[in-house]
Amino acid sequence: MSNFNFQPIGVFDSGFGGVSILLESMRILPYEDYIYVADSANCPYGNKSQDEIVFLTENITEFLLENNVKMIVVACNTATTAAIKHLRAKYSIPFVGVEPAVKPASRMSKSGVIGVLATEGTINSDFYNTTKSRFASDIKVISIAGDGLVEAVEKSMMDNPATIKLLEKYILPMIDGGADQLVLGCTHFPFLIEQIKRVSSGKLNVINPAPSVARRVKDVLDSFNFDIKQTNGKVEFYTSGSPAALHDFLFSISGIKYDVKRYEYGKVSSTGS
Ligand code: DGL
Repeated sequence: MSNFNFQPIGVFDSGFGGVSILLESMRILPYEDYIYVADSANCPYGNKSQDEIVFLTENITEFLLENNVKMIVVACNTATTAAIKHLRAKYSIPFVGVEPAVKPASRMSKSGVIGVLATEGTINSDFYNTTKSRFASDIKVISIAGDGLVEAVEKSMMDNPATIKLLEKYILPMIDGGADQLVLGCTHFPFLIEQIKRVSSGKLNVINPAPSVARRVKDVLDSFNFDIKQTNGKVEFYTSGSPAALHDFLFSISGIKYDVKRYEYGKVSSTGS
């Protein structure tokens, strides 16, 4: 186990969405090193089969393991619901996933109705439906597939009128149906939080899973005694899509010009931002 604590944490998503979880993890665990993989060339995952998602996430896991990570955060609801059981069974490293926060939303709801905005893949998964019947059997859950929203975030089109129209189409029926909580069941959606609040006129309590996933990462590190590093952490970014697009997205949300390298099925084929 020598130097084990100095190994980086791997974080991945189908694209930019998992950055919402990465930033929160960096905030509460600033001394850790991170490697982030955005599989933007294969985004969205939401309409892919489980077999395809297992294949893609295995590739990313192998790449992260080659880069010596000590744990992996599956910062994607769709990949968690489709593949985390498989990944945990195949690899001995700890995995932390993210799934729609149905349990806390049910507890907080006063109206007895909650809205869940997620991808089609997540909504149709056994994983999600099991969670719903375990934690929300006594309330009404309005689950809506936010088609087009992942793509809008990937293109940094958060304020585009077409994106606002989509948000209205998905969110207003939840309010009409009596929901008082909105679960963001996709890690891309926290980047739409301002627009969602505007569209819902403050009528929904919006639940962003990023802080609780980051706390879970910390708990896992604590339980393995992993978090003793005391020098400033660094973060490396890889994408299977356009490095320039991820670079610009990161700059727009953080003001930092990160170098972004290219990831291609487990091989880094070129670098640059
Ligand atoms: N960020 C992913 C999630 O949390 C988006 C999935 C997709 O690519 O459709 O579900």
